[in-house]
Amino acid sequence: MELSNNERCMLKAMRNEPERVWDLSSLLESCGWNDQAHVAGAGGSLAEAGFVNQTENRSKIWRLATEGKAAAENGLLEQRIWDWLSQQEEQVGMKDLQASGIVEKREAGAGIGLLKDLGIQLERGQFVIPSATGAIDATLEMRAQFITQLATSEGIGIVESELDISQIDYFSSRKGIITSSEEVVRTWVLTPQGIAVGEHDLQEHLSIADITPELLQGEEWRTADFKPYDVTRSAPTPQVGKSHPMQALIERIRAIFLEMGFTEIDGDYVTTAGWNMDALFIPQDHPAREMQDTFYLDNPKSIPLPSERTQQWADVHEHGGATGSRGWGGDFSAEISEKGMLRTHTTVNTVSHLEQNPDKPCRVFSIGRVFRKESIDRTHLPEFHQIEGIIMEPGASLPMLVTTLKEFYTKMGYPEVRVRPAYFPYTEPSMEVEVKWRGEWLELGGAGIFRPEVTEPMGVKWPVCAWGMGLERLAMLVLGLDDIRQLYISDLEWLGNQPVL
Ligand code: PHE
Repeated sequence: MELSNNERCMLKAMRNEPERVWDLSSLLESCGWNDQAHVAGAGGSLAEAGFVNQTENRSKIWRLATEGKAAAENGLLEQRIWDWLSQQEEQVGMKDLQASGIVEKREAGAGIGLLKDLGIQLERGQFVIPSATGAIDATLEMRAQFITQLATSEGIGIVESELDISQIDYFSSRKGIITSSEEVVRTWVLTPQGIAVGEHDLQEHLSIADITPELLQGEEWRTADFKPYDVTRSAPTPQVGKSHPMQALIERIRAIFLEMGFTEIDGDYVTTAGWNMDALFIPQDHPAREMQDTFYLDNPKSIPLPSERTQQWADVHEHGGATGSRGWGGDFSAEISEKGMLRTHTTVNTVSHLEQNPDKPCRVFSIGRVFRKESIDRTHLPEFHQIEGIIMEPGASLPMLVTTLKEFYTKMGYPEVRVRPAYFPYTEPSMEVEVKWRGEWLELGGAGIFRPEVTEPMGVKWPVCAWGMGLERLAMLVLGLDDIRQLYISDLEWLGNQPVL
């Protein structure tokens, strides 16, 4: 087997001490590397080739946390105060300490507590130092050593078994000094085959990883090695800035609809009950309109609507207007229409688009936030997003709607889609859209053909396919979550580990 330069370098280093059990930091040092990925890569392929034995153990690794790093630079808080105290010739107190500038205001309280633990009392504001201070110095010395030990391993961290467990216990009870994580720790030992590799095979060659114009202008590349890529090798996950998974998902959905020939539309969070509900032929006594489900606004409590518009809705709701429907009956109230509220679905966006463009066939979508008075639990949030869309054109039909939704979910990676009969006041027929996920059918949204009571008063001549789906529900599938709240708690560790969507 042809070795890579890194493998050669690692093998050479190990052959200097053929019996040794090597760990990450000793190899980094002996090879003169500062990138752990070199050791992981070379070690993995040397092990595969049988030149080294690689052992993997899950271990607890300790590192300095924010306060710990500060302590490594400036000394521990108690150390700083103690050094200062030891230099004072007269008895000093809290006020002197504050005036000395060696501690920050926020540290003073904690500092006093730490001194007390060391046996230094504060009596009537004055520090009382015990006659023998050897024990204090010894304790502080041990703490400082521990911090220094961790500081020198920065980045890699130290396996718990190599640390003083009493210091771990002690510092774990203080905030922000040390932190731990469970990690796979590898060690490497030479095998007889590794020892037997000939010197000649260990000569390092120029190895080319990037082909650049400059490189090709020279001659060196003719005799160089070209580094092959192995995309199956394990590599560290770079912790870099990236979009929030929700934002990334929104971008992806947007790209899919744009690719499918849709145009994006938008709308305001604040709307009227008229546009959110009356225009959609939702009866004014519908339970979803109640205060406990909808956020009505105090300001603006009401938003004036043109009387021709509310009259039109009144006609349709009371007796069907000119649509041939019988309407809901009862008395329609224009005052209810004008109530200000936060939109409960983005169907207001598509309906408003139709109202503005009744005679222009369209395929539009919107991705936006909606608001409902829901109690927060594993699957509910009072603010969430919907993916909404319509197709309005002469041949728009139910099969077209189903095909469009199937195409969308297939592009998202969920090719198994089914629809089931459902009910919405504004569509006929109406359906629920479900996708198969881990063997189960999950409901992701509603869809249907807008009823004439919705479209005809606005002058829309053609059928309108419409749908509205939950974005967070879809995010739960994509990200494999069983709690919707995870999306919004800004858990940095979780966010850092999310795939780039
Ligand atoms: N607005 C419905 C909801 O919020 C979804 C829907 C949109 C249903 C369009 C049919 C047509 O659940």
